[in-house]
Amino acid sequence: MSLMRVEEYLLKPKVQQSISKLLRTCFSQYPSRKTYLSQLPDFRLLWNSEEGTLLGHLAAEHRIMNANGAPVRVFGVADLCVLPEFRKQGIATGLLQAVESLGKENQVEFVVLAAASQSWFAKRGYLPVDGQFKWLMIHENQSLGIASRRLSKTIMVKPLSSKPWEEGPVDFLGHIF
Ligand SMILES: CC(C)(COP(=O)(O)OP(=O)(O)OC[C@H]1O[C@@H](n2cnc3c(N)ncnc32)[C@H](O)[C@@H]1OP(=O)(O)O)[C@@H](O)C(=O)NCCC(=O)NCCS
Repeated sequence: MSLMRVEEYLLKPKVQQSISKLLRTCFSQYPSRKTYLSQLPDFRLLWNSEEGTLLGHLAAEHRIMNANGAPVRVFGVADLCVLPEFRKQGIATGLLQAVESLGKENQVEFVVLAAASQSWFAKRGYLPVDGQFKWLMIHENQSLGIASRRLSKTIMVKPLSSKPWEEGPVDFLGHIF
């Protein structure tokens, strides 16, 4: 097994095909032949078998968000997924740990994600952030406007340094990851 980081602009068409296949397998509603929902990430972490089969994936975007009026430097994580027959072996946990280590080494302050299963992420040190959020709504390659809404049990963050997440309104300064 091997863990690889690939900058988005370097992805070869064949790897893009494997990613879109994995995303369709893991998320039944994922649009076919697509590797992103709203926007391209900055890089991806890919977990391959010895034979080169893609078993696990995570997309990450480097962004400034606004938390309670102050800029915070984050890695936004999306599309964390593992091929069903390779689950419960620690692959997803390994992918998350890898993106967290990259962040810590490079002065990224938080990992932010929209969690489908809050308890799974809570076990891995992620904290729920409930409250007022602002974000850019994107659907099928169209900007639909800015949403300003309360969200609960959706967004989670993990601090990568001693700096805590400031409670208060959150502006994604873009789409939700
Ligand atoms: C959620 C998902 C990514 C988890 O992937 P995974 O590789 O199975 O995750 P892990 O193996 O790291 O952890 C899963 C469980 O296996 C356990 N585990 C980890 N290593 C293990 C090992 N070597 N042996 C047995 N169990 C192990 C963990 O304790 C964990 O248990 P928990 O759920 O009770 O905390 C995967 O189920 C998936 O792709 N789901 C569909 C897509 C999705 O919902 N993604 C999340 C979007 S937010």
